[in-house]
Amino acid sequence: MTTETITATVAGTWQLGDLTVNRMGFGAMRLPTTDRDSAIAVLRRAVELGVNHIDTAAFYFTPLLSSNELINTALRPYSDDLVITTKVGPGRDPSGEWVRARPDQLRGQVEENLRQLGREHLDVVNLRIGEGLDRGSGSLAEDFGALADLREKGLIRHLGISNVSPEHLDEAQAIAPVVCVQNQYGLGARREDDELLRLCGERGVAFVPFFAVAHGHESDAVQAVADAHGVTAAQIRLVWTLHQGKHVLAIPGTGNPAHLEENIAVSGLRLSEEELGQLDPIR
Ligand SMILES: NC(=O)c1ccc[n+]([C@@H]2O[C@H](COP(=O)([O-])OP(=O)(O)OC[C@H]3O[C@@H](n4cnc5c(N)ncnc54)[C@H](OP(=O)(O)O)[C@@H]3O)[C@@H](O)[C@H]2O)c1
Repeated sequence: MTTETITATVAGTWQLGDLTVNRMGFGAMRLPTTDRDSAIAVLRRAVELGVNHIDTAAFYFTPLLSSNELINTALRPYSDDLVITTKVGPGRDPSGEWVRARPDQLRGQVEENLRQLGREHLDVVNLRIGEGLDRGSGSLAEDFGALADLREKGLIRHLGISNVSPEHLDEAQAIAPVVCVQNQYGLGARREDDELLRLCGERGVAFVPFFAVAHGHESDAVQAVADAHGVTAAQIRLVWTLHQGKHVLAIPGTGNPAHLEENIAVSGLRLSEEELGQLDPIR
């Protein structure tokens, strides 16, 4: 008997504006911490396994490797269905020091992504607000307005926002269409965003959690569900996010080829109502 390889297409699709993505995607933040050849192999394997939504940023780099340049090397010429989402707002100077772009500097950050990725426009750009993992506060209107202008000029196709509250979503949507919200969220991590996740679903906006695998504390309930399916707790944390709504997109990050295979493998794993009930109380 042959075992058919499960691909990201099994997770179903979602529309980011006019762009269709498989709900199981890939986060590129972890790539520069591995070696160049392995990182390139992981990216190519991800695409081979059906991933067509990759999350990146110009500030994902180590002294020798950058996520954007690895994506460029591994995947150009890009296939028509590949959607690359990047983020601006924060940046890092060549020494790695964090900086924050003023509204008039956002164009430079967009162009930096265009150069590194080798594209003439960016598919999706998230405005990332706030410092570190603290949720952003204050108005995003000036920054988002600057990005809306770049969208009008054709440098960006679609906009998203990251590290935000429901009020930020209202504020951004009053300025320009928002296709996605990218916040930290997962089993046992930032469940206060349950409400924002629901709101995004109501408005047809994708909710894209980050740290869905990495941050969530160990739990017997997660392990029990994992054991029942013969998978790992990390896989259950990941697939649980996909069960929170059809508008939830996964972008698990890894530089490890075995973890990549494991993540894609749960694209089709369905949790029962009873299992979801056991997992839901994990806050
Ligand atoms: N908007 C924002 O502010 C923001 C912030 C952070 C991240 N992001 C984006 O979100 C993506 C996801 O976040 P992330 O990569 O930090 O976290 P994640 O997807 O929650 O988890 C990644 C971590 O878990 C490990 N991992 C991945 N798959 C695994 C598996 N099947 N079994 C066991 N361990 C596994 C990875 O290590 P190995 O490499 O060893 O597998 C890595 O340490 C990032 O890649 C980035 O694109 C956005």
